[in-house]
Amino acid sequence: MTEHTHGEHYWDEHYATIDPSWGTRPNAVVVDVVGSLPPGRAVDLGCGHGGDALWLASLGWHVTAVDAAAVALGRVAQAAADAGLTDRVTVEQHDLRVSMPSGPFDLVTATYLHGPAEFPRAEVLHRASQLVAPGGLFVVIEHASSAPWFWDQHRVFPTPAESLASFDLGEGWSVERLDAPRRTASGPDGQTAEVSDNIIAVRRTR
Ligand SMILES: C[S@@+](CC[C@H](N)C(=O)[O-])C[C@H]1O[C@@H](n2cnc3c(N)ncnc32)[C@H](O)[C@@H]1O
Repeated sequence: MTEHTHGEHYWDEHYATIDPSWGTRPNAVVVDVVGSLPPGRAVDLGCGHGGDALWLASLGWHVTAVDAAAVALGRVAQAAADAGLTDRVTVEQHDLRVSMPSGPFDLVTATYLHGPAEFPRAEVLHRASQLVAPGGLFVVIEHASSAPWFWDQHRVFPTPAESLASFDLGEGWSVERLDAPRRTASGPDGQTAEVSDNIIAVRRTR
């Protein structure tokens, strides 16, 4: 279908129809991995409704919230204004297949940067890693199993190590997290299911 060949169209339609409060809270894994870091400059790639970006900003981070979906970015900007965080949250529209924000950043996150559109994931995440400043952290959280409400029930998921290898980071990185814990996920209609995630957190050492 035409709209599924362009991520921004699928996601704008998706965001126009779902509960605007979905995805407005930070991902628990981001809280776990990032919560104790000193604030700096961060970018959240595929921010959706901005749960992670807004939470980081509330901790003092200066966050660039990036997505292809204008509907979602409008809601992030409004939520930042409502929370008095406009000076710490910048929204930028990018189709990450085509363009990236300007770095460097002390923290680059990409949480569940998935979708039904064709997406050169490894290449995009390789380019995302280039935004990380020396000493900074690159955090990728991705689905490692299909929840019942996913668009693709037949996908084969990589292990965390396979996924990290596909980013082709080269030398100068140290691994801080590389595992695939299980959790109870909530779907867009309030349903729940047991799923697993790949968690990849690597620090740029030089
Ligand atoms: C599953 S949602 C995850 C949202 C958020 N990170 C979270 O954890 O709640 C995936 C997000 O990636 C965005 N996305 C998908 N393809 C994209 C692309 N090519 N460029 C930029 N954003 C994209 C979608 O618009 C959507 O907001």
